[in-house]
Amino acid sequence: MKRDPWRLAYHLMPPDGWLNDPNGLCEANGVYHVYFQYAPNTPAPDGRMARTWGHYAGPDLINLSFKGVPFWPETLDRDGCYSGSALVEDDGTIDLYYTGNIKEAGDYDYIHDGRLSNTILVKTADGGRTYSDKHLLFGTPDYPKDCTRHVRDPKVWREDDQYYMVLGARMNDDSGAVLFYESLDGVSWRLLKIEKTGEPFGYMWECPDYFEMDGQPVLAFCPQGLEAEDFCFQNNHQSGYSLLSGDLRGKQMFGPFREWDMGFDFYAPQSFVDDRGRRIMIGWAGLPDKPYGNPTAQRGWENCLTVPRVLIKKGNRILQKPISGLKRLRKNPSRPDGEGRLTLPDASGDIEIAFADPASSWDIQMGEGVCLHYNGCIVRLALDEKTGCGRDERLARLDGVRNARLLVDRSILEIYLNDGETVFTTRYYADFETDRRLEMKFNCAGADIYAWEMQP
Ligand code: FRU
Repeated sequence: MKRDPWRLAYHLMPPDGWLNDPNGLCEANGVYHVYFQYAPNTPAPDGRMARTWGHYAGPDLINLSFKGVPFWPETLDRDGCYSGSALVEDDGTIDLYYTGNIKEAGDYDYIHDGRLSNTILVKTADGGRTYSDKHLLFGTPDYPKDCTRHVRDPKVWREDDQYYMVLGARMNDDSGAVLFYESLDGVSWRLLKIEKTGEPFGYMWECPDYFEMDGQPVLAFCPQGLEAEDFCFQNNHQSGYSLLSGDLRGKQMFGPFREWDMGFDFYAPQSFVDDRGRRIMIGWAGLPDKPYGNPTAQRGWENCLTVPRVLIKKGNRILQKPISGLKRLRKNPSRPDGEGRLTLPDASGDIEIAFADPASSWDIQMGEGVCLHYNGCIVRLALDEKTGCGRDERLARLDGVRNARLLVDRSILEIYLNDGETVFTTRYYADFETDRRLEMKFNCAGADIYAWEMQP
């Protein structure tokens, strides 16, 4: 695994084994914490052991180091310490809320029977070195009776002296929904309401997140079971947000659902506000029930997180912008030669492009197997058979492209168009048999292009 050329230079990946959702994102006492769904040793989600959490921490979101596993599956979470979030108390204590998954042995469908999800609280007073015992807050017998056994992924926050929690759920009529709870102390919780769209929008909503931007409530969630359409819902499960109208304590109406990311690999993002007041989101650059075999699995590890993205509201859209600190990793600036050629010697880089005319067409070739193309109305990200492991293309309709930022990192590519209005995240598996040189070719007449290599 250590010699694998697809290991990443500046994206968070598991030290070994399997990673999925980001969990427990927070800043406490000047330390940033990024927990994640983790199955150590085994590059499969339910391989040799049930999933638990892994922990990265550091003074900023660039210099993070792996701190180990905070807790392991026991009785309350026997079949997985599933996803959850962090709330930082005024005294700096971190409260971690998560789902303890239990699957009973037997002939169950695990939708209506045979599964329990416990909502659990663990506290750490010293920034993650020691953790309290697990405290069971409530569980399956306490959820509303019209929920199936799929209820999970608590996101917790505080407004004034009130605590709130949102959980994702699958209802008995096979519609996705979220459950809102409230509490005065973060320990005793009461159901506030169930929210869902007027018409069912998928059968299950995972990993919800709720926050306000410029006074407007936002519900982010991951609906499962949507039919693919021409320019949306192209992955097997989706991830996006709706702006809501109305107050949290009353009935809220859903605005249109917008996908966070148009690429092949994006799911289960979580956001938090740091001490500088930035709302920062990190996503899993992957998907559950993945429709393709990830070749890094044979090399002992699988999956990674996106870079942290600052969220900015513009009109009724939320823009995503890579955190500014990433620029500190830039080195060796360069520009494409007269023929538009540029080499990234270690397949890791950060590239900024300002297009001369937003309406003109262009294309960018990365190595043999990755092509990004714009024809004046549609952006097409195409992977060849080998580089894409059988995945072919992703499309987005765009009325002009003013600028692009490409974050290239060995086996992940993040593309930010129009200041982060449209984003594509994808893993790609170029042929790095002899070295990691990545040749790029820009056919972008008149564009201003600046590139940097990136330090690990
Ligand atoms: C989303 C998810 C969550 C669950 C976790 C388990 O990817 O399925 O709903 O808590 O992963 O790892």
